[in-house]
Amino acid sequence: MSLTYITLATDKKMPLVGLGTWKSSPGQCIKREDIFITSKLWNTKHHPDDVEPACRKTLADLQVDYLDLYLMHWPMAFERGNIMMPINEDGSVRYADTDYKDTWKAMEKLVEKGWVKALGLSNFNARQIDDLLSTVTHRPVVNQIECHPYLNQSKLVDHCTKRSIVVTAYSPLGSSDRPWARPDDPKLLEDPRILEIAKKYGKSPAQVIIRWQLQREVVCIPKSTTPSRIKENIEVFDFILSEEDMQQIDSFDCNGRLIVPTIVRDGVRVWRDSSHPYFPFNDSY
Ligand SMILES: NC(=O)c1ccc[n+]([C@@H]2O[C@H](COP(=O)([O-])OP(=O)(O)OC[C@H]3O[C@@H](n4cnc5c(N)ncnc54)[C@H](OP(=O)(O)O)[C@@H]3O)[C@@H](O)[C@H]2O)c1
Repeated sequence: MSLTYITLATDKKMPLVGLGTWKSSPGQCIKREDIFITSKLWNTKHHPDDVEPACRKTLADLQVDYLDLYLMHWPMAFERGNIMMPINEDGSVRYADTDYKDTWKAMEKLVEKGWVKALGLSNFNARQIDDLLSTVTHRPVVNQIECHPYLNQSKLVDHCTKRSIVVTAYSPLGSSDRPWARPDDPKLLEDPRILEIAKKYGKSPAQVIIRWQLQREVVCIPKSTTPSRIKENIEVFDFILSEEDMQQIDSFDCNGRLIVPTIVRDGVRVWRDSSHPYFPFNDSY
């Protein structure tokens, strides 16, 4: 596979590997003209009146005239305002009841204004995607979801592909620097089964994982602020994993979701937002 881009339903091309930026410091990333810029609408900005100002702020912050892709970060709306995490003393979040379909309608106006080239979703499950598709004018072209060998999302990837929605894998390397990682959590990049495949191809574990995603036509956004790793993570177009090794990596799935905020409720650690009517992970995919 020599493709470095995938074609979205808008006919625009999107790179198959992107640069994740969470936890990067200002000035550590690269120039606008070199990159396909994706940004997201945060949960406190779902009210239709808040969408345009939120996007305008992002354009101003980034000092650009347009975004290549603008995603709704989560289907869930949080309390309106400028407090990014409207949290109560017990750690629970104050929600809002905005329907993501109303938010989407407001996002569609951004395309019409030329502020964004394409719209997409993040953390939407299959049912929510279909619910949204029933009302859209501008279709979502991407769904950005957690995806790696421990959570391969094969059913959701298949669901998206059938609807011409490209899947972008976030935390593709297992997000080892996620703030809540515990010492005894499994470390994807140190998994002996991945190491064995990497050795066979003379590649690094990260390269094997990224290559596995590309061969299943899933875009990857591995985060790194280490120049040698950034280089390593894009040097993935000069080898091909065999079908057998692809299936072997597929078999590492253990529903191992890493990126879900949790709180302790009645002495038990639970998913913080699982009671929100639009929490996406109560469905199996
Ligand atoms: N839509 C959403 O809700 C959502 C949620 C989470 C993340 N994301 C996006 O997805 C991006 C990627 O996910 P992530 O940051 O959670 O985790 P990730 O990309 O899976 O892993 C990042 C970690 O891997 C290390 N790393 C990167 N390349 C490596 C290599 N070749 N060898 C060894 N270690 C390597 C990085 O270290 P160094 O930086 O020190 O090199 C960092 O500690 C984020 O930055 C963000 O843009 C989106």
